[in-house]
Amino acid sequence: MSRLVVISNRIADPRKTASGGLAVALGQALEASGGMWFGWSGKVVEDGTPGEGDLHVQTAGKVQLATVDLSREDHDSYYLGYSNGVLWPVFHYRLDLADFDSGYIAGYRRVNQMFANKLKGLLRPDDIIWVHDYHLIPLAAELRAMGCQQRMGFFLHIPLPPPLMLAAVPEHDWLMRSLFAYDLVGFQSEADVSHFARYVNTETPADILGEHEFRAFGKTLRARAFPIGIDVDEFIGLGEGRESQEMFGQMREEYSRRRLLLGVERLDYSKGLPQRLKAFRQLLQAYPENLGSATLIQIAAPSRESVDAYAALRQELESLCGAINGNYGELDWMPVRYIHRNVARKRLPGLYRAAAVALVTPLRDGMNLVAKEFIAAQDPDDPGVLVLSRFAGAAEQMKDALLVNPYDTTRTAETMQRALQMPREERQRRHQALLKGIREQDVHWWRESFLAALAAVPEA
Ligand code: G6P
Repeated sequence: MSRLVVISNRIADPRKTASGGLAVALGQALEASGGMWFGWSGKVVEDGTPGEGDLHVQTAGKVQLATVDLSREDHDSYYLGYSNGVLWPVFHYRLDLADFDSGYIAGYRRVNQMFANKLKGLLRPDDIIWVHDYHLIPLAAELRAMGCQQRMGFFLHIPLPPPLMLAAVPEHDWLMRSLFAYDLVGFQSEADVSHFARYVNTETPADILGEHEFRAFGKTLRARAFPIGIDVDEFIGLGEGRESQEMFGQMREEYSRRRLLLGVERLDYSKGLPQRLKAFRQLLQAYPENLGSATLIQIAAPSRESVDAYAALRQELESLCGAINGNYGELDWMPVRYIHRNVARKRLPGLYRAAAVALVTPLRDGMNLVAKEFIAAQDPDDPGVLVLSRFAGAAEQMKDALLVNPYDTTRTAETMQRALQMPREERQRRHQALLKGIREQDVHWWRESFLAALAAVPEA
């Protein structure tokens, strides 16, 4: 059996529940094949030399964790700069927030080259290589340039924008060409695949061999959608744990006379937080029966705080929450509880279960796993309602959620009201259909179907 090698910028220890279902699912595959997970150690060396970083290799059971430190300069140009200041905003349709004219690209290339260099010494000829996300698009091209001939797959966790928007990235030609060093490229949604096909059709000399097969630059590439899922039973199990039960009990007691709406995400401009707060304000204004009752708990975990756009968003949110609470709050009721901290993963299922409505309303999102975790956490007999943005990848699969356009605050408020008033039978019916869907295409299905498609690629 070939060994699986997973590479991602951020690695998680698959043995820790704090890491989430993706880490657990990849960890299981690594465990089965005796594999390796390679990525950034999370450490920044203040006076480190660009393009150099210490390699640490740890063995955990049958799995090796190999990590590399980043110099301050590499971290700032590769991670904060190019990955999160250029690719992240453009791929989430926010050209207005991209920081185009700084020299970040050199750092992005340098770190991808350094990763390739360090990794090469650890690889075996029959390894299967699976690279994850936008930080590492050119990694396979760098490895191929060093003579590596292993099977290589890539999965993009974030959306791929339409060709015209993608072409706003100054290095788009090079980036997309470098994708052709992979044998298989996976996207979250059919929309992403169609953007890729259109890009290849109009901007590259590729021959389209079939719906999912493209030939260019002397290489054949397969590209398909593999919508990522969650480990439903792992999450249900977490919900049965002490921390989660305590959370549920505490919330039910505190909000016994109130209706709870809930949002949980990283504080990121792609998540549509200001729009959501405005829609919630509209809910209070247009449907006064919610005054004194509806409460929005918004968890916005700190993220990428040294990137300017994130700091600006934080200010905007704090002022919006303050204004809503100031205008509508009572001595014994605050409409918004805004929490700019992490909530332990072990407590999340209890929080999800206590909510009447989940608001998952990103302006753009590759998939969004909170939507799936919320469904897994519900009591099937008395489930909460999912309000989901049509611009989240998850909307392609989760048609039984209440779908909204998050920019349209009036209709989003109407939908929140509908969710709060939905009769139990309708809630049960929708929940049942959604649960079936997330069980069928769970994280194991995702991993197995991607790896099977990669294994099925004919020898070049
Ligand atoms: C998104 C990306 C991941 C990233 C995560 C957290 O889900 O697709 O690649 O790891 O955000 O962001 P961070 O910048 O903290 O790694």
